[in-house]
Amino acid sequence: MKITVLPGDGIGPEVTAEAVRVLRAVAAIHGHNFGFVERPIGGVAIKQTGSPLPPLTLDACLAGNAVLLGAVGAPEYDSLPAKLRPEVGLLSLRRALGAFANLRPAISYDAIAATSPLRSEIAMGADILIVRELLGGLYFGEPRGFFGGNGDSAARNTMSYSAMEIERVARIAFDAALKRRRKVTSVDKANVLETSQLWRQTVSRVARDYPEVTLDHMYVDACAMHLITTPLRFDVILTENLFGDILSDEAAAITGSLGMLPSASIGGVVGLYEPVHGSAPDIAGRGDANPFGAIASAAMLLRYTGRLEQEADEIEEAIRLVLKAGYRTPDIDDGAHRYVAKTSEIGQLVCEAVNEIADMRHAYHAV
Ligand code: NAD
Ligand code: IPM
Ligand code: MN
Repeated sequence: MKITVLPGDGIGPEVTAEAVRVLRAVAAIHGHNFGFVERPIGGVAIKQTGSPLPPLTLDACLAGNAVLLGAVGAPEYDSLPAKLRPEVGLLSLRRALGAFANLRPAISYDAIAATSPLRSEIAMGADILIVRELLGGLYFGEPRGFFGGNGDSAARNTMSYSAMEIERVARIAFDAALKRRRKVTSVDKANVLETSQLWRQTVSRVARDYPEVTLDHMYVDACAMHLITTPLRFDVILTENLFGDILSDEAAAITGSLGMLPSASIGGVVGLYEPVHGSAPDIAGRGDANPFGAIASAAMLLRYTGRLEQEADEIEEAIRLVLKAGYRTPDIDDGAHRYVAKTSEIGQLVCEAVNEIADMRHAYHAV
């Protein structure tokens, strides 16, 4: 497999290095040949080339089998016009790859359930898959921009969806539900928005092809509340682009930290894998970033692009083992005097755990 690595800005390079380290360990154990090609995106790319998504970066992504991304964005670019910001590099990449379905699992690991601001009996056992539409809605709708008297007295964005865009992401959500607890909650604002009324109709139509899956509809404001009062009621949450962006950061709080959440953006020509969090400028450069979301994104890469289910399972099991053994980055330290580790130590520990799991598998087969 050829993997294009886009470390990006802030803590992006710190967490991506650990995800690559784990992928190398998996390749060594299983005898796979993974090639890694690194390219700039976001703020570092603007600095080097003037563009947040240089053509050489995009070409490498399209020429490979999968893209592993860290994060983009830095405070120094926050005052730039929207079109010139690092974030545009990421949005253009998603569009160029055609990655319309963004899978964001939020899992509460027992070992760190106490890190969540939610009481353990509420958070413990939560296992939610948010399926976020990634190429439509307010993020890409036209017309957009500033207008009015001086060109800046008003601004507009357009929320627009076609039935086709809704249907294709809905199918991904229902297919995912079939492999889980067979429940889809479709989240919208159909009491106010026409796009949401079309969303609801279309999702209900798709649901007829999935009689084994239970579908319910929920308004996004109520969902924001149910998510933190009764997270266990959710299996798959299907929603549009902006709602999914917001609800996935909220779901991260159930797990204890934004640093825990991975994602896979699929449906296009090449899969894109990235943690849900951003560049975290407030902690960048210290070696304190939580790499579990990035490492779990590498597991999703193996599962969805590599079709390497066992290897993906082993990485996820290794993450559980390292947490169970008590290792924590500062964001998931519950103050119970566990071992607080650096980003790179966590990566190393996950590699060791992946090796232990492989040894156990061999021993088991030898019996
Ligand atoms: P953020 O996700 O970078 O950080 C939010 C908070 O969570 C911060 O306190 C940060 O320290 C903490 N955090 C995030 N990831 C962490 C990790 N792995 N380990 C420990 N703590 C972690 O969001 P923000 O501060 O609102 O945005 C910073 C920049 O990142 C902005 O430029 C934004 O546009 C960008 N951003 C990029 C992506 C992406 O590349 N996919 C996603 C979100 C935000
Ligand atoms: C995310 C991020 C991005 C988004 C930004 C950086 C463009 O917040 O991946 O969740 O809004 O999709
Ligand atoms: Mn986001």
